[in-house]
Amino acid sequence: MTALDSSTARLSSDIDSIASRYRADFPILAQLAPSGEPLIYLDHAATSQKPRQVLEALQSYYSSDNANVHRGAHQLSARATEAFEAARTTTAEFVSAASAREIVFTRNASEAINLVARTWGDATLKEGDEVLLTVMEHHSNLVPWQLLAQRTGCVLRHVGITETGELDLDDFRAKLNERTRLVSLVHISNTLGCCNPLEDVIPAAHAVGALVLADACQSLAHKPIDVVALELDFLVGSSHKLCGPTGMGFLWAREALLEAMPPFLGGGEMIQDVFLDHSTWAVLPHKFEAGTPAIGEAVGMGAALRYLEAVGLPGIQAWEAQLTGYLFDRLQAVEGLRVLGPTPDQQPSRGALATFVVDGVHANDIAALMDASGICIRSGHHCCQPLHRHYGLTASARASLSFTSTFEEIDRFSEELASTVSFLREHS
Ligand code: ALA
Repeated sequence: MTALDSSTARLSSDIDSIASRYRADFPILAQLAPSGEPLIYLDHAATSQKPRQVLEALQSYYSSDNANVHRGAHQLSARATEAFEAARTTTAEFVSAASAREIVFTRNASEAINLVARTWGDATLKEGDEVLLTVMEHHSNLVPWQLLAQRTGCVLRHVGITETGELDLDDFRAKLNERTRLVSLVHISNTLGCCNPLEDVIPAAHAVGALVLADACQSLAHKPIDVVALELDFLVGSSHKLCGPTGMGFLWAREALLEAMPPFLGGGEMIQDVFLDHSTWAVLPHKFEAGTPAIGEAVGMGAALRYLEAVGLPGIQAWEAQLTGYLFDRLQAVEGLRVLGPTPDQQPSRGALATFVVDGVHANDIAALMDASGICIRSGHHCCQPLHRHYGLTASARASLSFTSTFEEIDRFSEELASTVSFLREHS
């Protein structure tokens, strides 16, 4: 899309944009920066902001229903348990799971991946078995498998990326073989923004007998996903990327897999009966949830997912695609700027973020000066050091959008970026 096409699209879409309808739900977005200008938050990929519906759900839970779950005979415990389990049902529906028994609550997506590595991995993999990852993975989808490889002797292999910063499907097919037991990959990369074709990866992996785990942290708030239609095996998600509270995440896995997997952590809640020398396990999903869970956070995540459903993921996806096209157009006008990952023309399904480097200017300096102007972006390696090494970089800058983002914010961001880059070049 050219800049002119973008501004025409912008005029027509601004009239009834998702952002204009829902932005007021987010109190934090109404604040001014110390500079006196409206604060612009373009770090939604690091953590999403929370609508008042989620804040109210937390307030209401702690004001009216707070108690421990699955334990007390009293009415507060019954209400807390009902709210907690309703959040599980909402989460199952959000990913189109077959049953709420397939949703295991965790502290975050990292813990969910560690759970799979520690239980399925330890019980299944042996020396010489292969786990196929990609070089674009977040550290949370690299380190648990490195630890697993140290414990079991399994071999880790990594699929590369193309010139345009997309998953290299030829390399994937070349590295997939009858020793591959698991393919674990990100759905939308938090750095490249590319959307990996699960619909191609999953059947190919299954054809050699491998399972597939999708890290959907960066996709769940941006596009619908149906784990049954995709025939996925494992999916992990994180509440705080989904307009929900921190300290909360989940693992979805097919029920048969969860049934076969041994427990993860031991303690209360996850047991059926405890004897002095052995124990038996609770039914799914409680077998994997030791100790008092993050009850309020689960209730908050449930409210967040219901909120996203009410806004509508297809509408979110369409609005963010317009914004992303416009963001790329504006970035391309900055001299010496290079975006990592595919452009929207190269991959229309790509995510709503742009990670970039600028010749002769350090990403951390850009982010610090932009912050002084009230614009929040991220800089650094974005928990993707191997990917940055692949590009010969130690850091990049990233602007990431949500459905509350606007063309006006992208305009101000782009103008500030251009003047920040000029300033840094003049003063280097
Ligand atoms: N994974 C988060 C990010 O991309 C923290 O910023």
